Amino acid sequence: MTTTKLVNLQVPFHRADLGEAEVQAVSDVIRSGWLTMGAKTFEFERQFASYVGASHAIAVSSCTAALHLSLEAIGLSCGDEVLVPTTTFTASAEVVAYFGARPVFVDIDAASMNMDPREAERKITTRTKAIIPVHLAGTPCEMAEITHLADQYRLRVVEDAAHALPSSYKGKRIGTVSELTAFSFYATKTLTTGEGGMITTENEDLVKRLQLMRLHGIARDAWKRYSAEGSWFYEVLDTGYKYNLTDLQAALGIVQLAKCDEMTSARSRIAARYTAAFQSLECVETPHIPADCATSWHLYLLRLQLDQLRIDRGQFIRELAERGVRTSVHFIPLHLQPAYQRNYGYKNGDLPVAEREYQRSLSLPIFSSMREEEIEQVIWAVSEVASHWSR
Ligand SMILES: Cc1ncc(COP(=O)(O)O)c(C=O)c1O
Repeated sequence: MTTTKLVNLQVPFHRADLGEAEVQAVSDVIRSGWLTMGAKTFEFERQFASYVGASHAIAVSSCTAALHLSLEAIGLSCGDEVLVPTTTFTASAEVVAYFGARPVFVDIDAASMNMDPREAERKITTRTKAIIPVHLAGTPCEMAEITHLADQYRLRVVEDAAHALPSSYKGKRIGTVSELTAFSFYATKTLTTGEGGMITTENEDLVKRLQLMRLHGIARDAWKRYSAEGSWFYEVLDTGYKYNLTDLQAALGIVQLAKCDEMTSARSRIAARYTAAFQSLECVETPHIPADCATSWHLYLLRLQLDQLRIDRGQFIRELAERGVRTSVHFIPLHLQPAYQRNYGYKNGDLPVAEREYQRSLSLPIFSSMREEEIEQVIWAVSEVASHWSR
């Protein structure tokens, strides 16, 4: 393979793995005449619950909606505090703000880049109501320590598993560990419905509340009211939200779920190739996956040893782009974002581990429809940039 040939190839950061089966499934729903939440959505919920091994799954319009509804179901209220890792997407914290509650940002563990449970404990006050562990990139958080904290301080746990389908913690699938887990089916996620989300739980009272509130707070079978089985009469039992998934999306989800294991294996193979290729490079650090955990490999986070390089992370990203490789950064710590600084008084320097890791991390393309030449291109580009700019 020549350098010129490789540079001509553009490797996107992500490309959804969609085929004829998805087209067919969506077409079937269109032909059926029933587009919104209905039989397909309930079928998707049953299959999803069975896939992760949970008793119940409640389909919603996004992971943001899943997190919002979960916090509503545990009774979060104004003035409460919720522990959230600072290294996450804004959705994990904005849902706390919806209630007038305070997102209390927690520093991360340098190896996993997930919330550090020891730091979390230091942030607990009498107002702390819940913890939102986020399984960054698909790497499970230290759930034994987090569950222990929750028991000790009587806190509720809502897992943000937007990246963690399918991940496992000590042999348990994410989705079965805590009382509530929120998943994302956003366009770039490991299973996509374009936009969509799911909540898993074992608790039947929570199921009732989530089902009620995802559709305007109207009694459970309201979705039927335009169908032959339904009736015109309905009651609004609470002021709810419009957070339901549609049958169009669920049809996509059912096809994607059937190939979820295959797509995960493809990403695992790519991750193994990257790790094998980059392990010997002194200026980069490959991901640390705890031995008793399995990751979904939603993201492959590469960290730079900046003292071994003559360029910073921004320049490294530009150098990769010049070699046809698109990358991303997950995430700019939330306590550095203007909205959280303005509203909650966070400042630069507050959470030093997250800030340091942010400065040196980038995410490489890793998606199941990646072609062999695309994988080779990424390996070549990273190795080339690393050797060219090494000290
Ligand atoms: C960690 C994390 N949590 C929550 C979300 C929100 O997911 P959604 O777009 O399905 O609302 C995302 C989306 O990227 C995410 O990365």
